[in-house]
Amino acid sequence: MLKRISTLVLMGALAATMSACGGGGGSTGATTGDSGGGSDKLVMGFSQVGAESGWRTANTKSVQDSAKNAGVELKFSDAQQKQENQIKAIRSFIQQKVDVIAFSPVVESGWDTVLKEAQTAKIPVILTDRAVDSPDTSLYKTFLGSDFVEEGKKAGQWLVDQYKDEKGDVNIVELQGTTGSAPANDRKAGFADVIKADPKFKVVASQTGDFTRAKGKEVMEAFLKSNADIDVLFAHNDDMGLGAIEAIEGAGKVPGKDIKIITIDAVKDGMQALADGKINYIVECSPLLGPQLMDLAKKVVAGETVEQRVVTQETTFTQEQAKEALSSRQY
Ligand code: AHR
Repeated sequence: MLKRISTLVLMGALAATMSACGGGGGSTGATTGDSGGGSDKLVMGFSQVGAESGWRTANTKSVQDSAKNAGVELKFSDAQQKQENQIKAIRSFIQQKVDVIAFSPVVESGWDTVLKEAQTAKIPVILTDRAVDSPDTSLYKTFLGSDFVEEGKKAGQWLVDQYKDEKGDVNIVELQGTTGSAPANDRKAGFADVIKADPKFKVVASQTGDFTRAKGKEVMEAFLKSNADIDVLFAHNDDMGLGAIEAIEGAGKVPGKDIKIITIDAVKDGMQALADGKINYIVECSPLLGPQLMDLAKKVVAGETVEQRVVTQETTFTQEQAKEALSSRQY
């Protein structure tokens, strides 16, 4: 499909420059939808996990906006949190002979067959946001996204520091992300790795809330019914934490005081709750992966070598830091 890769790379760079100068904002060609084939643009098939959280909405916008700005034609598919939908979308991208496939795998396992199909069709694949657990790293060109283990560790470290003088048990409940997903597996592991240093930290309940606000609320209600003495909630994302806040308030307790809350993401709603004192600490996970993704896609399609792993830069927020950062928060 791509005849003159180098020309395309140049065109993409030009489009990006135009947009940076304010000249490309009105571009209509790079929106989601069908390419109709035969286009001179680099065509990317992108399979998104779904729309489960504020993070995901911001990530989708980042990818779509960046594609426009970079002059990339995006074929966007929403998998609604289902692996079978992602596999179908990838097969359809292969059939359509896109130039590059990017996707954020809903779960870690079960991708080898479809990734081999893409490899046989000579279509490069980029993993974005979430990883796959395949030992065969030749099945994808690069993986762009956060270090989820590190995020879990940062959450655990804050807890250890906060409770360093505590002599009694610290009872923790954990709201996990989507079962089998890289962020759920890794954040759980990173957190556990840090708190295991002191046996007073006890995870008394741990269950999935599927990264959604509604499920976070529902599971927290159940936690509150079966555990009389909860000191801390560790939620694998802001949305579940925000749902849990509703459950805690519904049970007549004060979030942030009666139950300390740590979450991950730092989307606007989460940051607002942190500034309001309802959350105690947030570990950032940036959804703004679009610009780097477009850049990597152009390089990969042009046959350039790229790093196998590109880790996103992230920080953490206390309540005071959230108050300062809130007004300039992009998502
Ligand atoms: O994979 C990133 C995670 O997915 C985000 O932390 C969460 O909010 C989203 O659903």
